[in-house]
Amino acid sequence: MKIAIIGQGYVGLTISTYAAEHFEVVGFDSNQKIVENLNLGISHIEGVQSSKLQSLIKSGIYKATTKGSDIHGSEIVVIAVPTPLTHDRKPDLKFIEAACKTIGENISKPILVINESTSFPGTLRNFIKPAIEKFTSGRVEHLYAISPERVDPGRTDFNQKNTPRLYSGLTTEATAKTREFYSKFCDNLVEVSSPEVAEAAKLFENTFRQVNIALVNEFAQITHSLGISVYETLDAADTKPYGFMKFTPSAGVGGHCIPVDPTYLAAVAEEHGTPATFIRRANEVNLEMSKYIVRRVAEDNGGSLQGKNVLIVGVAYKPNVADVRETAAELVIEHLRSQGAVVSWHDDIVGTWEGESSAPLQGADITVVVTKHDSVDEKNILASASYVFDTTGKVKGAKGL
Ligand SMILES: NC(=O)c1ccc[n+]([C@@H]2O[C@H](COP(=O)([O-])OP(=O)(O)OC[C@H]3O[C@@H](n4cnc5c(N)ncnc54)[C@H](O)[C@@H]3O)[C@@H](O)[C@H]2O)c1
Repeated sequence: MKIAIIGQGYVGLTISTYAAEHFEVVGFDSNQKIVENLNLGISHIEGVQSSKLQSLIKSGIYKATTKGSDIHGSEIVVIAVPTPLTHDRKPDLKFIEAACKTIGENISKPILVINESTSFPGTLRNFIKPAIEKFTSGRVEHLYAISPERVDPGRTDFNQKNTPRLYSGLTTEATAKTREFYSKFCDNLVEVSSPEVAEAAKLFENTFRQVNIALVNEFAQITHSLGISVYETLDAADTKPYGFMKFTPSAGVGGHCIPVDPTYLAAVAEEHGTPATFIRRANEVNLEMSKYIVRRVAEDNGGSLQGKNVLIVGVAYKPNVADVRETAAELVIEHLRSQGAVVSWHDDIVGTWEGESSAPLQGADITVVVTKHDSVDEKNILASASYVFDTTGKVKGAKGL
């Protein structure tokens, strides 16, 4: 059986390699460079080994393509494309719409369409289905289902096999076929009563993280003003065996999910006349952390950062990955530069970013640790400047939140 996966990024490529154990997989992506590299067996995603990709290509079970016509003949098509925000921070479904066009124009007999991209409740029913029908002029009656992706790139303890997967179809037949598909490579399938429940659950999972991270970031500012350690206080609270979950402070949230998904939830809430003040405020608190950190660094350095050489350690949005999407480092750097600081950054996993390259971990006036990869030595961080501010809580002996 042939299946197609639209979007060969973190989600789509990961799912492709699992599905390829059981099906012939066509990985469709609009990015020519990504497709060329994938067909050469070069993976751009943490967690997908190039060697694995090479063996799938060699056996003819997987190929990447930019040609929409190559998805023709697929019995299942999975959508795994970005769902970002527009410039005015509204849900942007243009990539989903383009994926629907590819399906509509290239699939001529009824198939199962599964959406794995994160979006607001109602996207499958009210956007994806009508969009595909528009491109097929309503001639083909597909089955539609949702199974929101929960992959955490770089994580090794949870993967596609052992992470419980939510799913639901628009019809019972769609739900049954979706279960059959994922049961091939996922051990724990959780059926919910409607696609909207699955879509909302996914948004709530990431909103839960966004709100709790904002709460602990606010708490870090409170404990600092009280002259007590936020980390010791959190460890103390964490001794309670029930009703508490520990989150740690940071320079803010990053990645494609946590800074974005709550805004999808807030937007749909407000569209239905329900204010989402809590979610909106959490977003603001996390965005404002960069300003707070720069203020603290300036206070510790005589009140001015003018002309100071500041080195940022870690610009990826989280440890041990090269992903810089929505990274908190960007705002920290922006605020430092607006104060007249001369900023460079060190991140050998990211390497190059925004036309700049990773600088050596040495010779700065001030070092600010935003993300601490395991490969970066604490001693080298402490030796890189006479003043080190650590936003991660991992560098003992540095100033911090
Ligand atoms: N990255 C994560 O950790 C994660 C986790 C859970 C859910 N998600 C969700 O999964 C979805 C995909 O995220 P991702 O991280 O894989 O994104 P990504 O940016 O890594 O990959 C998306 C890929 O889709 C391609 N693309 C864009 N438009 C296309 C089109 N019209 N046709 C074909 N290819 C197209 C891009 O070139 C890119 O390679 C998003 O909705 C995201 O919120 C992501």
